[in-house]
Amino acid sequence: MEKRPSSKLVQWWSMVVVLAVVILFGSFTTSKGDGYVSAVGDPGMKRDGLRVALEAWNFCNEVGAEAPNMGSPRAADCFDLLSKQYLSGMPKLEVSHLVTEEDNSLGVGDPMPGAPPKYLNNVDLYAVAKEIYLGDKCQVRDTPKPWQFWMIMLKNGNMDTSASLCPKDGVKVGPFPPQSRFPCFGKGCMNQPLVYHKYTRFVGNDTLRGSFYGSYDLDAVVTRNENTNREQSYSYYSVTWEKQVGEGGWSFHHYLKTTNKYPWLMLYLRSDATDGFSGGYHYPTRGMTKIIPESPDFKVRVTLEVKQGGGPNSQFYLMDMGGCWKNDGRPCDGDVTTDVTRYSEMIINPERQANCQPNRITQCPPYHTFANGTRVYRNDTANFPYDAYHLHCVPGNAQHFEEPYNICDQYSNPQPQEIMQIVPHPVWGEYGYPTTKGEGWIGDKRTWELDVGGMSQNLYFYQDPGTPPVKRQWSSLDVGTEIYVSKNQVAEWTVSDFDIIVPNTEQKSLA
Ligand SMILES: *[C@@H]1O[C@H](CO)[C@@H](O)[C@H](O)[C@H]1NC(C)=O
Ligand SMILES: *[C@@H]1O[C@H](CO)[C@@H](O)[C@H](O)[C@H]1NC(C)=O
Ligand SMILES: *[C@@H]1O[C@H](CO)[C@@H](O)[C@H](O)[C@H]1NC(C)=O
Repeated sequence: MEKRPSSKLVQWWSMVVVLAVVILFGSFTTSKGDGYVSAVGDPGMKRDGLRVALEAWNFCNEVGAEAPNMGSPRAADCFDLLSKQYLSGMPKLEVSHLVTEEDNSLGVGDPMPGAPPKYLNNVDLYAVAKEIYLGDKCQVRDTPKPWQFWMIMLKNGNMDTSASLCPKDGVKVGPFPPQSRFPCFGKGCMNQPLVYHKYTRFVGNDTLRGSFYGSYDLDAVVTRNENTNREQSYSYYSVTWEKQVGEGGWSFHHYLKTTNKYPWLMLYLRSDATDGFSGGYHYPTRGMTKIIPESPDFKVRVTLEVKQGGGPNSQFYLMDMGGCWKNDGRPCDGDVTTDVTRYSEMIINPERQANCQPNRITQCPPYHTFANGTRVYRNDTANFPYDAYHLHCVPGNAQHFEEPYNICDQYSNPQPQEIMQIVPHPVWGEYGYPTTKGEGWIGDKRTWELDVGGMSQNLYFYQDPGTPPVKRQWSSLDVGTEIYVSKNQVAEWTVSDFDIIVPNTEQKSLA
């Protein structure tokens, strides 16, 4: 337990001269040459003083109800490393946490400094305010903007159709009878998880480690042993981060297990915008991305090692990108009936079967644009790369889509959404993405340098006819898996080296 200094330590402190120096690593924008800079606060995850937070979402990206005794489902682990020089002995590095257990346990109704009163008694709004509160504690000053933390995101795919909690395309709807596509074991199936926290600490002379872990089964007695948990009947997730001080970067180890009761779970590591709306959200959030990357000019570097895949329905996203713009091209403003979240994801699980096929063009985007600009329609069976697409869903509120079309997931975001899911294929090779099934999968750990900007510029996204094409901005980029309705599946992976590289638009002033 990382508490405040023990009385013994306080006594010791009073006898010595204490010299505290905050060790700053990576506080300067890393120059990538050729006028490129990192868009994230912690390029490559190299900063010893880590900033990481956790958020949990119900089926439509809200809280709904807090889990008993767990507080609002937002928590953070942020610390500086202090070098303490005592009168006798060698200088010693100490972890100085910025977020207390009291902060992390804050729940609806608890007073929270800075939170507007109307946020305090509403579970959904309370989480929004808590994220900002934790962000203030974790914030690191930087140019062009301060930043706060990497974000671990958990989502429960259960949906209680009788609870009337989730809007349809952003419009509130009443209860409706259960449907097989919405798993739910009964009342309370949309619950938030148990969240346990091991604060980051030294686990050897030079190794720092911390974790969040827990279960959706509220009656589970959760241990942290993954080998044991595999055999248990409860659902389980954990994210453990580890780093050697002064060397390399953080490695985030993820583990996710579904069960009969919780067959659809999602776990991602996100780099979200430091302010404004992040993909999938209609409230201001906090994050790591201090410059919002814009298509076509940005790249993402990340090392991914998949250890266990999560079964045939595990939609493992090598890159999951989220942005938001209205169908007429205007930026999102929080109006959930006209804002549209846009997602694009490459699913790298080779077991996942692509839905888009010559005889099922409903599942395909209207056209594919090759890297050289050539456009091929989906009815052009000789030339359209069907095997490159899993599915495309138009926004549920779009008025002018091309027939035939597919609308999906109308209840799973606060607003309508457009989804473009792709799978490894030679057409993505020009952007550095996997070109064949199995690339980057189990046994094939890789460091990817993805031209996400170039790729996302050429993807089809719906806009009303005659409106000027939007500048596509991606406020959330993440990696992780969505284990889609399948019980007792285990996914395990590590993410490291994450960085987003964008053109340097700041004027260089030579002193
Ligand atoms: C930690 O450092 C001490 C002093 O240098 C050394 O004696 C000890 O073996 C080290 N322990 C580990 C686990 O490296
Ligand atoms: C563009 O690329 C596609 C796929 O490689 C190719 O079939 C097509 O001929 C190219 N078009 C031009 C104009 O080069
Ligand atoms: C294919 O689709 C495009 C765009 O919808 C349309 O203009 C064209 O006529 C279609 N071609 C055929 C052969 O159906």
